[in-house]
Amino acid sequence: MSSVKPSFAPPPGAAADWTIPQDWRSYTAAEHAMWDRLFERQSKMLPGRVSPTFLQGLDVLRISKPGIPDFDELSERLSKLTGWTVVAVPGLVPDEDFFRHLANRTFVAGRFIRTPEQIDYLREPDVFHDVFGHVPLLANPAFADYMQAYGEGGLRSLGMDAIHRLARLYWYTVEFGLIREDGGLKLYGAGIVSSYGESLFALDDPSPNRIGLDLRRAMRTRYKIDDYQQTYFAIDSFEDLLRQTLETDFAPLYAELAAAPDLAEGAVLPEDEVITLGTQAYARAKAAS
Ligand SMILES: [Fe+2]
Repeated sequence: MSSVKPSFAPPPGAAADWTIPQDWRSYTAAEHAMWDRLFERQSKMLPGRVSPTFLQGLDVLRISKPGIPDFDELSERLSKLTGWTVVAVPGLVPDEDFFRHLANRTFVAGRFIRTPEQIDYLREPDVFHDVFGHVPLLANPAFADYMQAYGEGGLRSLGMDAIHRLARLYWYTVEFGLIREDGGLKLYGAGIVSSYGESLFALDDPSPNRIGLDLRRAMRTRYKIDDYQQTYFAIDSFEDLLRQTLETDFAPLYAELAAAPDLAEGAVLPEDEVITLGTQAYARAKAAS
């Protein structure tokens, strides 16, 4: 789940904090089968490519159990580990509500699941993206603290004209982040690990840049919402991501960044710690088509 909408009222049937009942019993056999199909495809491909922390989260939360997970059952396991819970929402929620949920260690997840026609791409996050993609890392204490710190930072930033900066940070870490582990790069971003195509592209394709994460740099960089990324940023560890976030004084940073030009999706700067200099062949071919 990401946050892109300004403040407005929740739809009928949703609580004031935008949550809705998951109503797990109302899922059809076809919906559970869709989850199983997506789960099987990703869980076959990810070992060796994804951070072991993600696989540990899948395991300890028993997300491999067949069918769409029951959020109450999942929350019971997760809250014992890191104090996080998972709640259902009807779709994208306003920024302030999204930040408040994260600050309270609540992860908001879509309850619907994609149709077979949408198997490879959908614009709004569904339960597979939100639960398979995001929830396993919430079992890791450092990542769990990072998500809470992000929500708290978001609440503090309201009124500072900084939402787009924070959205970029979320995008390049929580959604599309890479991590240096076991002598190589591994996947951890939910947008990657829940996508078959991008799980391959982000690690193996020569097109994208792979650059060491610098918070300032990521917050200046535009991103593509509807295609593979032109640049991926890699962290050294979840502890380091948390440390960088806690040690950054964001209010003066927003003021500093307001004077700095935005960077294009595929830009490379002399000061970047370049791990892989991408050819950008994929993005160029897309632009030409
Ligand atoms: Fe997401």
